Amino acid sequence: METCSSSSDKKTVEVGNGNDFKVHVFSSSSELLEKLHENWSSVKKKPYPAMYSSIFGGIILDPALMVIPVDDHMVHRGHGVFDTAVILNGHLYELDVHLNRFLRSASKARISSPYPKSTLRSILIQLTAASQCKKGTLRYWLSAGPGDFLLSPSGCSSSAFYAIVIEEDILQCKEGVKVITSTIPMKSPEFATMKNVNYLPNVLSKMEAEDKGAFASIWVDEEGYIAEGPNVNVAFLNTDKELIVPLFDKILSGCTVLRLLELAPKLVENGRLKGIRTDNLTVDEAKSASEMMYVGSSLPILPITMWDEHPIGDGKVGDLTMALSDLLWEDMVAGPETQRIHVPYV
Ligand SMILES: Cc1ncc(COP(=O)(O)O)c(C=O)c1O
Repeated sequence: METCSSSSDKKTVEVGNGNDFKVHVFSSSSELLEKLHENWSSVKKKPYPAMYSSIFGGIILDPALMVIPVDDHMVHRGHGVFDTAVILNGHLYELDVHLNRFLRSASKARISSPYPKSTLRSILIQLTAASQCKKGTLRYWLSAGPGDFLLSPSGCSSSAFYAIVIEEDILQCKEGVKVITSTIPMKSPEFATMKNVNYLPNVLSKMEAEDKGAFASIWVDEEGYIAEGPNVNVAFLNTDKELIVPLFDKILSGCTVLRLLELAPKLVENGRLKGIRTDNLTVDEAKSASEMMYVGSSLPILPITMWDEHPIGDGKVGDLTMALSDLLWEDMVAGPETQRIHVPYV
């Protein structure tokens, strides 16, 4: 007996002798479409209400057709960049900040956008409106585009822009999680500071944490300084009540942690925090912090109470962590209009 693995190694189909396995050839695109619709028919609530593709030149509402070409340089060579924005109560949070980082990443990856920034922005807002989604995430990609499967993108006639809306619950995190120090090597600064689609180290690092019963991991750089998590930044409160965020020279400058640095002075003004700084932090300094947290768009703050079996502070969710979380949450829910772009749903 031989086994034939499907796309996911979780599902293994017994097919008997390999010679018995007959691959179906779709005789027409309508037959294929029927099959794709059949695959989606059992899904009660569609998780992706809308997608935009510059290849199609419009918005797609049918999940069976939310596809990208296999000869896209992003698919077979990882030549693409991406970014996100949270949709909360019918607003897009920090869209412009994310869009600026997206275009910086694209420039570092030598991908030129098929549209100017104002058009990308307009597409993202119209896509969110068409999706009718009031709570979730918007994810978008710029790719070198479809071409000829070669390493050079010179055969890719035009870059491509894709975006998708994902319905999900966005809630303030109130429980603490456990983290581990990652043994998976982190990306070099050139690649870690741009948000490109090569997230294999990040995926393996997250899987390593899950294998060890932790939520996620912490990367430590070659010099022994704290870096970031696999898709989040990390921040600390020391026993002197200072908020410390690792420097951004070797990691992604997270839009959320940058906003946190803008909002946190309110806690200095009311005396709850003594200071705020971005700095190098050794593992020993970090492990002796009184509070620790992940910071990232869809969290926006996740308290960390245990690290490599070592409790952080008293091992409970800290008051200052929650005060910082409240500041960010308030900003997401009712912050200034410059931060929260209104979506004109139809
Ligand atoms: C590697 C990495 N670090 C940090 C972050 C946090 O960034 P943001 O706050 O913009 O979500 C992300 C997520 O985008 C990330 O992928």
